[in-house]
Amino acid sequence: MSPPRIGSVVERRDRVASTMDAIRDLDVDGAVLVAREQTEGRGRHDRTWHSPEGGLYLSVLLKPDVAPAKLGLIPLAAGLAVAEALDRWNLRAKLSWPNDVLVGRSKIAGVLSESRLSGDRVDDVVVGVGLNVNATLFPPELDATSIRLETGRAVDLDAVLEAVLGALDRRFEGYAEDPAGFLEDYEVRCTTLDAEVAIETDGAKVHGRAVGIGDDGELVLRTADELVRVRAGDVREVVEEGPR
Ligand code: BTN
Repeated sequence: MSPPRIGSVVERRDRVASTMDAIRDLDVDGAVLVAREQTEGRGRHDRTWHSPEGGLYLSVLLKPDVAPAKLGLIPLAAGLAVAEALDRWNLRAKLSWPNDVLVGRSKIAGVLSESRLSGDRVDDVVVGVGLNVNATLFPPELDATSIRLETGRAVDLDAVLEAVLGALDRRFEGYAEDPAGFLEDYEVRCTTLDAEVAIETDGAKVHGRAVGIGDDGELVLRTADELVRVRAGDVREVVEEGPR
């Protein structure tokens, strides 16, 4: 049996608190909920994701048959898919590990992944994507951009939705059989690799050169005296200190 396609069910809402919660009403593998506006959009590390009309805000419900150790790969694959979707607008988007989507040095999209487990079984994963499409003004403290700012044109949100869902579907098609199969393509777009980075985890700060992505999606750092593997879930902040 072929796996269910992402977007086989697409539900649209004008306004929700967060698509991450609203999607829970759709108990279907591959279902998508997209909202024109969110009143309580959330980002990684308990940050707010400012979500006025003009952006793309969606969540996908996945029920993947994978081990919990592989869950960290899901947001990386989703970030890659979003970057690939932007090829349609010739934006050459890059990825800052784990899953910030950048054009130049500015963030154009973010991915949030929330999973539920029963013991060591994955029940489901909600992958949220926030993509700046037609916004032209952002708070100055955010180094953000949008498709409109980059192309100089307003863009049809449905065309962006179609491109993103198509790219997500392609990237997740072979996921269960080969969860890390996308990493080679991910690494090509990842600006963090080969950079000097400072990573703040809950307990400590690690400095080193990013030398690879591990099979579970973790960042491999060469510090002064050892190789350290950092999982995205443990990270509070990643600062790239040196150019690639
Ligand atoms: C990040 O911090 O970079 C991740 C941002 C993820 C935002 C999206 S918008 C759609 C979905 N609903 C939310 O509340 N958050 C995610």
